[in-house]
Amino acid sequence: MSVNEDLSSEAVLHVERLQKSYGAKEVLRDVTLTARAGEFVCIVGPSGVGKTTLLRCLAQLAPADAGQVYVDGRAVTEPPDEMAVVFQDYSRSLMPWMRVGANVELPLRHTRLSKSERAERVRSALVDVGLTGCADLYPWQMSGGMQQRAAIARALAYRPDVLIMDEPFASVDAQTRSDLEDLMLAVRERIGVTVVLVTHDIDEAVYLSDTVVVLSGSPATVAAAVPVQLGRSREQLATKSRPEFLDLRARIHAMISRKPADRPEDRTESAVAATSIDRPTR
Ligand SMILES: Nc1ncnc2c1ncn2[C@@H]1O[C@H](COP(=O)(O)OP(=O)(O)OP(=O)(O)O)[C@@H](O)[C@H]1O
Ligand SMILES: [Mg+2]
Repeated sequence: MSVNEDLSSEAVLHVERLQKSYGAKEVLRDVTLTARAGEFVCIVGPSGVGKTTLLRCLAQLAPADAGQVYVDGRAVTEPPDEMAVVFQDYSRSLMPWMRVGANVELPLRHTRLSKSERAERVRSALVDVGLTGCADLYPWQMSGGMQQRAAIARALAYRPDVLIMDEPFASVDAQTRSDLEDLMLAVRERIGVTVVLVTHDIDEAVYLSDTVVVLSGSPATVAAAVPVQLGRSREQLATKSRPEFLDLRARIHAMISRKPADRPEDRTESAVAATSIDRPTR
């Protein structure tokens, strides 16, 4: 069995040689990445490199031109049931005329869950994101950070194996952003969901991740998949002042700023990381 076949069957999410063009503009070329059960993977890269395009293709919200996405070892061609997506703009993702509880319940209406099972899912998802007792509020009665928590609760209520997030904390203030980062780490720890999160904030990526995937170039390729060995327990000030954190941040920064022609050693690291056996596991 080849390495790639092996990864595609073991991984919760495996993206194999994805290609995407818009007309004559080639955006993604041969993008391969893997997320294992409970792994937190952040995708970083400069603005316009193709991060949102990659998420849309891997969630099957936009068709790729070539390549394959596997979820739990199964090749998928339409939005998979095991996946939930949270976007940056919470104000457009929540229905303003529906109370928070109804918003969180919305995707569950298409499932076979009974009314009481749905109510229990909504209740526990709101507890998970720290919105206990907020089910009867309207989105516009809550702060931006609370609205994004509600959007995350809606994704969690669905109990996905993989949570896909595109710049989910970009529209909130710095303190709320740190709180939401820690919330996501706690949620991952508690329910074991696999998270693939796009950010252009390198500090955020290193702080959250087990693996940081660096996209760069035009068309975008994976410059590196960098393992982050900072342990599972993280704390904003202490973790971000560790020498290993600062070193990773500097290395990733350099990779993003470098031109594609300068990166042969990063490609080697990418190949090693993709097959590495010392990655964080649960
Ligand atoms: N629907 C589309 N039609 C045509 N071109 C598109 C479309 N969506 C994105 N693009 C182009 O594809 C490239 C990648 O865009 P994308 O939104 O994926 O980048 P990004 O890395 O998410 O950027 P940002 O960090 O600013 O969110 C850009 O050049 C963009 O203009
Ligand atoms: Mg984007």
